[in-house]
Amino acid sequence: MGKSTIGVYGMGVMGQSLALNMMRHGYQVSVFNIDYDVTETFLQTKISDEKVVACKELKEFVDSLEKPRRVFLMVTAGKVTDLVIDQLKEYLEEGDIIIDGGNSYFKDTIRRFRELRECGLHFVGTGVSGGERGALEGPSMMPSGDPEAYQYVEQIFTDISAKAKDGAPCCAYIGGDGSGHYVKMVHNGIEYADIQIICEAYDLMRHGAGLSVEEIQQVFERWNKGRLKSYLIEITGKILKKKDDETGKYLVDVILDKAGQKGTGKWTSMEGLDIGAAIPTIAESVFSRYISAQKEERVRASQELGVDLSVNIDDKEKFIDDLEAAVYAAKICCYAQGFELLKKAAEEYEWTLDFGQIAMIWREGCIIRADFLEDIKAAYDQDEVSNLMLSSKFKKELLDAQKAWRRMVCYIVNCGIYAPALTSTLNYFDGYRCARTSANLTQAQRDFFGAHTYERVDKEGIYHTIWEE
Ligand code: 6PG
Repeated sequence: MGKSTIGVYGMGVMGQSLALNMMRHGYQVSVFNIDYDVTETFLQTKISDEKVVACKELKEFVDSLEKPRRVFLMVTAGKVTDLVIDQLKEYLEEGDIIIDGGNSYFKDTIRRFRELRECGLHFVGTGVSGGERGALEGPSMMPSGDPEAYQYVEQIFTDISAKAKDGAPCCAYIGGDGSGHYVKMVHNGIEYADIQIICEAYDLMRHGAGLSVEEIQQVFERWNKGRLKSYLIEITGKILKKKDDETGKYLVDVILDKAGQKGTGKWTSMEGLDIGAAIPTIAESVFSRYISAQKEERVRASQELGVDLSVNIDDKEKFIDDLEAAVYAAKICCYAQGFELLKKAAEEYEWTLDFGQIAMIWREGCIIRADFLEDIKAAYDQDEVSNLMLSSKFKKELLDAQKAWRRMVCYIVNCGIYAPALTSTLNYFDGYRCARTSANLTQAQRDFFGAHTYERVDKEGIYHTIWEE
C-alpha cells in the first residue's frame, strides 16, 4: 500500500467515525491510537474493504503519510491535545499540517497556531459539529488557520462534510488562527439557548397547560412542519415518543432533571462578558443547567417556597399558538445574540468573518441545523444589517409575534414556571429596541459615589458634578 492521504490520531467514537467517513470517500487513511487495542477493535468491527493503514507506533504513523503530512487530531480537548502535539512535533517536518477537530477552546487554538508556526508547522483548528453520526455521515465543519494550509485539506473536508439540500458542502474556511473553534463555540452557545427554549416550551405545555406527553409530542411534530422546523425540534418529537423498557412510562418522565454540560456554553457566555456582547439567552441557558444541577436543594426549597400559582388556561389551542410565536421570536433573538457575538469577535480578534456563509454551513450536519439558517443568510445578503433583528423579514416577524410572546411571558410570571430563556429574551428584545434606558441614572449614581463622570444628551464632553456640598 502506498502512502495515506491523511492520518487520524485518536480512535474514540468521533475519530473512528471521521476516519470511516474519509475512507468511504475514497481516501486512504492511516489511523493511530495511544492504546493499540482500540485500533484493533476498530479494524475488526468497522472495517471491511476500506483503505486503512493501522499504526502501532507514532513514527510509523507519521511515515505512512504523503507529504505535506495531514494529521487530523480527534483527541480530548485541553491538555491531551497539547501533549499529542508535542509528541507529533518530534516527527513532523516543515510544511506539515496538524488539524485539531476537537472542541478546543479558541484561545488554546490561537496559542497552538502561533507556537506551531514558529516550528514551521501549519495548524488548522477545525470546529466539527454533528456528534458521532455527523462525523460518520457528514458533519458541519468550521476550519481556520492559514489559507495556504487550508488548500491542502479543503478537498477532503468538502468531501466528508454534510451537504445542504442545494448540494453545497457544510464546510467553509472561516478565517485566521482560532476563528473556526470560535465559531464552533458560538454554535454551541446557540445550541444551549435553542435547547433551553424548547425545554421551556415542553414544560409550559406539560406543567402549565397540563397536556399529556402524547399531546406535546404531536405539537412538536406539527411545529416541525412549520417555521420552527429544525433538528432539535425534530428530535424532541422523537424523544417524546420513547417509552422506558423497565417501567413502560415515557422515558422523558423517568429521566432526572439534572442537566450536564461540558463547558462550551460557559465559554460562550464568558466570551460575551469579556468582549462586551449582550448574550443573555445563552448565559441564562448555562445558569439554568446550574440551577437544574441543584436538584436536592430545589426539592427542599419547593417545600419552603412553593405555592400553588396555577392559572387556568381556557383555550389550549390559543395557548399553543402563543407559545409557538414566543418560541420563534426568542429563537430569532438568540441567533441574533450569537451573530452579535461573532460581529464583536471579528473586531476584537481581527478576523474577517462572513456571517451569511457561517449560517450556510450550519444548515446541515450540525446540532442547530435548520431551514431557518437560509433566512439568516438572506437577511445578511439583502439587508446588510448590523443586527439580524433589524432585517426586513425578522423585524416583521418579531413585531408580529410580540403580542403573543408578551401574553406568554405574563402567563409564565403569573404562574411561576421557571422559563428564563423565554422571559429574559423578551427583556433583551425590549432593551435592544429601547431608545432611552435608565442608564442615565446609573451614570449619575456612579458619578455621585465615585466621580466616574458622565456624558450629556445636549452637548459633547465629559462631566462631573459635585452632588452634595
Ligand atoms: C456538536 C455538539 C457537541 C456536543 C456538545 C454537548 O456540535 O456536535 O455541540 O459538541 O454534543 O458539546 O455539549 P454539552 O455537553 O455541554 O451539552
